[in-house]
Order: sequence, then C-alpha cells, then structure tokens
Amino acid sequence: MPSLAVNVDHIATLRQARRGTEPDPVTAALLAELAGAHCIICHLREDRRHIQDRDLDLLRATVQTRLNLEMAATDEMLGICLRTRPDIICLVPEKREELTTEGGLDVAGRTAFIRDYLRPVLDAGIETSLFVDADPRQVEAAAQTGTGYIELHTGHYADAASPAAAKAELERLLAAVAQARDLGLGVNLGHGLNYVNILPFAQVPGINEYSIGHSIIARAAFVGISQAVREMNDIIRTFAA
Ligand code: PXP
Repeated sequence: MPSLAVNVDHIATLRQARRGTEPDPVTAALLAELAGAHCIICHLREDRRHIQDRDLDLLRATVQTRLNLEMAATDEMLGICLRTRPDIICLVPEKREELTTEGGLDVAGRTAFIRDYLRPVLDAGIETSLFVDADPRQVEAAAQTGTGYIELHTGHYADAASPAAAKAELERLLAAVAQARDLGLGVNLGHGLNYVNILPFAQVPGINEYSIGHSIIARAAFVGISQAVREMNDIIRTFAA
C-alpha cells in the first residue's frame, strides 16, 4: 500500500504573508500525523520564503512518523541536513525566481557530483531521494548515485494542457516507475497531485509514497487539515492496487 507524505510548506507560506507566528507548520504537521500522514515533508529553501530554520528544528523534535527534508544540493543545506538529521532528504533543483520547483534534477549531467554529495548523508544513516523527471536517462543516472529512492516529477502530468497530453505524460511516468523498480530504486511520486488526478496511479504497482502539499493545504483551508489528510488517504487506500 503506498503511503502519504504531507508537505506543510504552504502553511508556512500563509504565516510568512504576515511574517508572524500563525498558522504554524509544526502544528499542521502534528495534526496531519494524527490524521494518518505517514511522513511530513518540508522544503527549506535558500531564500527561506516559507519554511524557516526554526520550523525544521521543531519538526525534527516533534514529528513522530518520518521527516523528509527537501533541499538543494548546496554546502549550506548539507550542513543543516547533517545537523538536524531528517529521516530522508529529497534533493531538488532550486531557482530563486520560480514559484515552485519547476522540473527534475539533472542527475545525468552531474552523476559524480550527486554521488559524492549523497555519500556523507548516506554514511550518517539518512535515506535519500532524487527528484527527477520521468526521463529514462535521469532514472538510469539516479541508480548510479547510491540513492535508495527517486521521486518522479508529476508536475508535467498535472499541468498538461489537454487530456491527450496528460495521457502521454502518464505513460512516461508509468514507464519510469517500472524502469526505476527494475533498477532497484524505491519510487515516490509528487508535484501537482490532487484529489482527482491521483486516481490513474491507483492501479499502478510499485509506488512507495505520494508527496502532496498544495492540494491538501488548499482543501484544509475549507475542511480542516485532519479531514483533508483523511480524504487523501482514503483515496490512496480505496483505489490502491
Ligand atoms: N515533491 C517535490 C520535490 C516538491 O518540490 C513539491 C513542492 O514543494 C512537492 C512534491 C509537492 O508538490 P505540491 O505542493 O504541488 O503537492
């Protein structure tokens, strides 16, 4: 059964709109866990636009399930990772001007760099994931870095301009899931997934985890985070292969 990882960045986005203290992503994480989230994710960006260092420290101290730190492959983030010791990190590309992570990491073009970057993280007993597009070259390269997991970027599928384009993206994703499994990688999916577009993945074997933020936090604004997490978990459980 795939698990559900809930990204709490956008609770922090709302707090940072006033640079105040509420709503607190740490409270959101605890409620999400109580409602059945199997993992909490936060992305500590270089520009600290949403999650702050204080959030990461408190999440590390309080999350009872698993904590996944999304981060860019920089020296600063490596130091923070080794100090705070999340259960798993997910390396993502990061651009200051982007609204959200726009594409997968170029692992094929930087395989040796990423392998070296991951080594101290893996040596510290922290699991790793690489956020990659559903591109056979990137999946193949990821398998050469020592990472245990990849997260396939579902954003192109979620943002597809037509049903035909969405179908084509879905097929690319399904092929990448199979390729990654054959290479011995654990496969997570994330970006742009919501209560509707997640359904076609339901019958796909071999998906380890869904990483979902915006749609759950958006729904939480109307129904509360507990119900929003429960509803997504119900979909995953009910339709899973
Ligand atoms: N996975 C990764 C690597 C991401 O960068 C993000 C966005 O922070 C997500 C998943 C979650 O995407 P969304 O907020 O669209 O559900």
